[in-house]
Amino acid sequence: MKIVRARDYDDMSRKVANIISAQVILKPDCVLGLATGSTPIGAYRQLAGWNQKGDCDFSQVSTYNLDEYRGLSHDDPQSYHYFMKTNFFDHVNIDQANTHVPDGSNPDADAACKEYDRIVAAAGYPDLQLLGIGNNGHIGFNEPDDHFSKGTHCVNLTESTIQANSRLFDRIEDVPRQAYTMGVQTIMFAKMIVIAANGSAKAQAVHDMCYGPVTPQCPASILQLHDNVVVVADEAALALCPAE
Ligand code: GLP
Repeated sequence: MKIVRARDYDDMSRKVANIISAQVILKPDCVLGLATGSTPIGAYRQLAGWNQKGDCDFSQVSTYNLDEYRGLSHDDPQSYHYFMKTNFFDHVNIDQANTHVPDGSNPDADAACKEYDRIVAAAGYPDLQLLGIGNNGHIGFNEPDDHFSKGTHCVNLTESTIQANSRLFDRIEDVPRQAYTMGVQTIMFAKMIVIAANGSAKAQAVHDMCYGPVTPQCPASILQLHDNVVVVADEAALALCPAE
């Protein structure tokens, strides 16, 4: 794992955006795996700025998001479909037909997850997968468990994740209790993984991901076994890691 130290959120965001931009420049028709959450918003904003200046062309790029809440329609403001449109897709010259997010509006979990696995595999898996990390070490919505998941599946969110994500909802009761998420194995199929983290709430998870045992109790720890992972984190998120 390569650890890139950032001063703060803005610095982390620019560094992540630079890496994604390099990928798009090197392979204009690349496949990007994308993430939601507060962490990548700054990088999306930076990429949109460069796109509008003509510096980063998304016209041939296709994207596959990690996850989606189960039971929300695509235009629900809390859905990850809506998040991606409003935070990124609407601001760059991507063909929206080439953007993909698991279909949380399909109540048939099995069918929705199988179909997502089929299209991600048909795309050849991401050239670059962007990840955030949950306070409990989750990636996508792969929560701590006694085994690593494989393909896309329906998960019951943990109380800690429901609590953490409730800041984006009016009431905690409104947070969906289930989600469809790409599996850990699928995430590991990406050719390169960039995982971003900022803030002290992530410090333990970042430490355990980089220096703890590889265990499904910290799903992100599996990234130690991938040969092309870049961790971009600010000082607060790296506070428990040894200084390099
Ligand atoms: C959610 C998402 C994850 C994300 C995590 C951290 O649970 N499913 O993909 O990494 O939250 O979110 P944030 O970046 O807001 O801390």
